[in-house]
Amino acid sequence: MIDSFNTMLERLAKGFVQLGQVSTDMAHELRTPINNLLGETQVALQQSRSTESYQQLLASNVEELERLARMLDNMLFLARTDPASALRQRQALSAADEVERIAEYFEGLAGDVDISIHASGEGVIWAEPMLLRRALANLCANAIKYGAPGTELMIQAVPTTGGINLRVSNHGETIAAEHLSRLFERFYRVDESRERSAQSNGLGLSIVATIMQLHNGRYSVSSDAGVTCFELFFPQRED
Ligand SMILES: Nc1ncnc2c1ncn2[C@@H]1O[C@H](COP(=O)(O)OP(=O)(O)OP(=O)(O)O)[C@@H](O)[C@H]1O
Ligand SMILES: [Mg+2]
Repeated sequence: MIDSFNTMLERLAKGFVQLGQVSTDMAHELRTPINNLLGETQVALQQSRSTESYQQLLASNVEELERLARMLDNMLFLARTDPASALRQRQALSAADEVERIAEYFEGLAGDVDISIHASGEGVIWAEPMLLRRALANLCANAIKYGAPGTELMIQAVPTTGGINLRVSNHGETIAAEHLSRLFERFYRVDESRERSAQSNGLGLSIVATIMQLHNGRYSVSSDAGVTCFELFFPQRED
């Protein structure tokens, strides 16, 4: 009993540290878009302006607000996921069905930028379905966002010893080695320039990492000769 009590205390302590870190990161990330909104709006209000410039201001405000809304959705998702219940709700899922499903879901978005999706796979994924789909969706969204137009996006499921590997790979700029190891950190972006930042929060991959930790799985990324490949390993069911 002492042991399990200690384990519980440890878990709680870890939870608090994590929560503290999340709120620090969040406050830091929220500051920029909020300052942008404030600054631009205050400048606009200093004198009367043409209808067009009001329209422009509102459009740019909407962009920032959309980004804030997405960031909050993601933060809430991370905060709400209960590790214990996620593990209890794991199911044996057909890998072929799952990759097919995600390919279908992204067909339209990929088509808009002339990327064609190829999905293939076999075997069984032992996972909580919503979390698995969320992880794959975050990888596919990236592959389309950062992939080169006119190329292929591959989604593969390959059974291996002790579980299954899921791979999402796309063609695009090679990611430099110094960035690779940091991609899964919360709010980390390779390109922090202003244009990109409107659609980029640097949260997608940190959610993937959390989901894989919840499943006692592994995740990795490689980028070489213009091909970037994310790999997720889901361990099989232990009886
Ligand atoms: N397939 C990819 N090709 C090239 N770079 C990528 C790819 N996937 C991720 N990245 C890089 O990793 C960074 C982090 O990705 P992540 O998904 O965590 O955040 P994001 O896409 O910037 O924003 P969001 O929170 O909306 O997902 C991205 O900003 C991008 O620089
Ligand atoms: Mg992303």
